Amino acid sequence: QPGGIGAEIVATVNKLQDVFSAVGTSASQIDLPQICVLGSQSSGKSSVLENIVGRDFLPRGTGIVTRRPLVLQLINRTATGGKEVTTSDKNSNPDEWGEFLHLPGEKFFDFNKIRDEIVRDTEAKTGRNAGISPLPINLRIYSPNVLTLTLVDLPGLTKVPVGDQPKDIEKQIRDMLMKYIGRPACIILAVSPANVDLANSEGLKMARDVDPDGTRTIGVLTKVDLMDKGTDVVDILAGRVIPLRLGYVPVVNRGQRDIDSAKSIVAALEAEREYFENHPSYRGKAQFCGTPFLARKLNMILMHHIRNTLPDIKARISQQLAKYNTELQSLGGLAADGNGSNVVLSAITEFTNDFRTVIDGNTNELSLNE
Ligand code: GDP
Ligand code: NA
Ligand code: MG
Repeated sequence: QPGGIGAEIVATVNKLQDVFSAVGTSASQIDLPQICVLGSQSSGKSSVLENIVGRDFLPRGTGIVTRRPLVLQLINRTATGGKEVTTSDKNSNPDEWGEFLHLPGEKFFDFNKIRDEIVRDTEAKTGRNAGISPLPINLRIYSPNVLTLTLVDLPGLTKVPVGDQPKDIEKQIRDMLMKYIGRPACIILAVSPANVDLANSEGLKMARDVDPDGTRTIGVLTKVDLMDKGTDVVDILAGRVIPLRLGYVPVVNRGQRDIDSAKSIVAALEAEREYFENHPSYRGKAQFCGTPFLARKLNMILMHHIRNTLPDIKARISQQLAKYNTELQSLGGLAADGNGSNVVLSAITEFTNDFRTVIDGNTNELSLNE
């Protein structure tokens, strides 16, 4: 499952969701982080997100393509063995489909049609001439290969209005982005093209404004393949240019020609791996380069976030149980002090322990990151 968000922890997070639905705590109270992309127009944000998900479905290209926020909820579901629908298309799979909030009940098994619908609804709300809107498109993807979490594709930072864009386009886009990246539970993928001086990165600058300690910003360097011969991102990775606490990951996405020729995501990830393994500057550290490493890094951050939130959630549930017990007693009912509450708390404790094991295993491997 190259590129897809680490299958290894899908099961663990599902268990967490199960525990919470069992105790009637809604998923929103868990406050799972959202992952947002931030960067200049055409820096490669949509390409990065698509590679992380591992499916082709986002509109990408030169110029302003992403013109409304796309809130992409990935929902893990167990495979059914493919009995529901038969599809012959390469970009379809009977166990994976998308549903738009604005088209309730309609299942999209063909991911090319998902992309068409994103384009169609974008144009319906913003016209065809580069207009933008803060009105999000809400898309859910159900699949056995994803982690239940939310990714947000956002329009890029721009300065000069084009087409139907308002004079204050720069401010309007910034305000739109702030609504997402301002949330403390938002993990920011600050995307900067490697073929432009990092000091000019608008995304990094804005990320620093909302996350000055750098605890939730990952630097992503795109277009490494387009850098001038003899130059590389080694100094940036080593933290010698603009240091970031969580570091940078260099990636190679599909170029415009690859998009035009409909190069597959599998072929693209393979080309990316070859690029880093064969390049003299990256050969020795190829395991810290590319989309798979970015996905693992994201997993790590997600796990730490969940681990940090667990004690809080545990305390909240204990409190609730104590309250219910008191109410029950005051009503003259049986005191439920034994079994019910213990089952729930021990499930959470067990989960926490499982989780630590997964995290500690990964931490050891990732500690070499430079
Ligand atoms: P966004 O506007 O930030 O969402 O950027 P897109 O993902 O739409 O990509 C903009 C353009 O840059 C497209 O033509 C992509 O093919 C191209 N692009 C993105 N990343 C890379 C990369 O790593 N290498 C190359 N060669 N082109 C890229
Ligand atoms: Na673009
Ligand atoms: Mg985009």
